[in-house]
Amino acid sequence: MKTTLMGLELSTPVIVAAGPWVRDGACIEKCFAAGAGAVITETIGTQMYMETRPRIAGNDMGVQNICLYSHLPMENWVDEIAIAKKSGGILIASVTASSPTELAYVAIKMEQAGADALELCLSCPQGETLEVVASSGEKVYQMTKEVVDHVKIPVMVKLSQNVSNISYVAKMAKKAGAAAVSAINTPRCILGVDIELGKPLLPTYGGYSGAAVKPLALASVATIAQTVDIPICGVGGISTAKDAIEYLMLGATAVQIGTAVILEGYEVITKVVEGISKWAEEHHVKHAKEIKGCALTGLQSFDEMTVDPLVCKIKRDESCEIGCTVCQKVCMYEAVECTDGVVEITSDRCTGCGVCVSLCPSQKLRLSW
Ligand SMILES: Cc1cc2nc3c(=O)[nH]c(=O)nc-3n(C[C@H](O)[C@H](O)[C@H](O)COP(=O)(O)O)c2cc1C
Repeated sequence: MKTTLMGLELSTPVIVAAGPWVRDGACIEKCFAAGAGAVITETIGTQMYMETRPRIAGNDMGVQNICLYSHLPMENWVDEIAIAKKSGGILIASVTASSPTELAYVAIKMEQAGADALELCLSCPQGETLEVVASSGEKVYQMTKEVVDHVKIPVMVKLSQNVSNISYVAKMAKKAGAAAVSAINTPRCILGVDIELGKPLLPTYGGYSGAAVKPLALASVATIAQTVDIPICGVGGISTAKDAIEYLMLGATAVQIGTAVILEGYEVITKVVEGISKWAEEHHVKHAKEIKGCALTGLQSFDEMTVDPLVCKIKRDESCEIGCTVCQKVCMYEAVECTDGVVEITSDRCTGCGVCVSLCPSQKLRLSW
């Protein structure tokens, strides 16, 4: 499945996101070899950002990082980009700075080094004060405009979920001349506290990523898609072809993979690219635009919703081989009873909330009239 993002023709909608897995030319080469449609560099600035130790912590819910962008000097990136570009793949340089003119300076340097496009990182929560630059539409406008006025290559602005109105920020990026937005960067987090030591797991606030942020990111992408006419690159918690296709169906033109490369290695890129190709072939889809935003019509406002008198029913027969009793445990209305694998539903009590249907491991339940 091909896609077109910011005028760039991508062989697949799968892009590798900014992070330490793309910290130099050699790592970027690995992403291209794995089949990525484009690769974004780790974020480059005028500083050699320090590598705090430790700086990444994970658990079964997600990953917190307190990484502060690339520790390579900007000048080194000229050589790294040359290495990365050898394979002929599409390279997007991620850049950051503390003022519009400084950002334009870094952007010009990366354009001269051969980057095909830029991603403005105005949204990493670590190392920032309480508010990231991307929480202000006005600041995003100033930063983006300065860059757009000084480079010829297309500019994408990476947005934060830590904002009250992401549509407004996306509108300001578009007004300043951005060719696309990416959503989302890591939301601000504290992964947890070591209760024996009485200390947080990492020594400062960080950014949250992995599967846990996918629902937040999907909502951000859908919100932008419904309100702003600008291409969107979806990012957050993607590790399967299904995850990626969900983003496309909610309005994304392409997607990015980050944390999954830590958790599964560069092979995850191939897995997602091939999974999308297989799905696309089975569904006769050649270009991502054919499915872009198709699921948005399924998002209604409460005013538009009709409430059908649905209740929970067990599919086919009244038995369940697993006998796990999950449906009984989660029913707040005491409408489900499981005895020796036999599920009984009291329709009078069932209010059709759907929780048992969505959590049933054997998918035996359904909502119907
Ligand atoms: C260890 C780590 C380092 C990251 N570094 C950057 C970075 O340098 N620049 C940036 O824009 N985003 C950075 N991110 C954010 C990712 O690019 C991505 O937006 C986010 O992690 C959500 O996607 P994921 O769940 O697929 O990782 C980083 C994320 C992680 C986990």
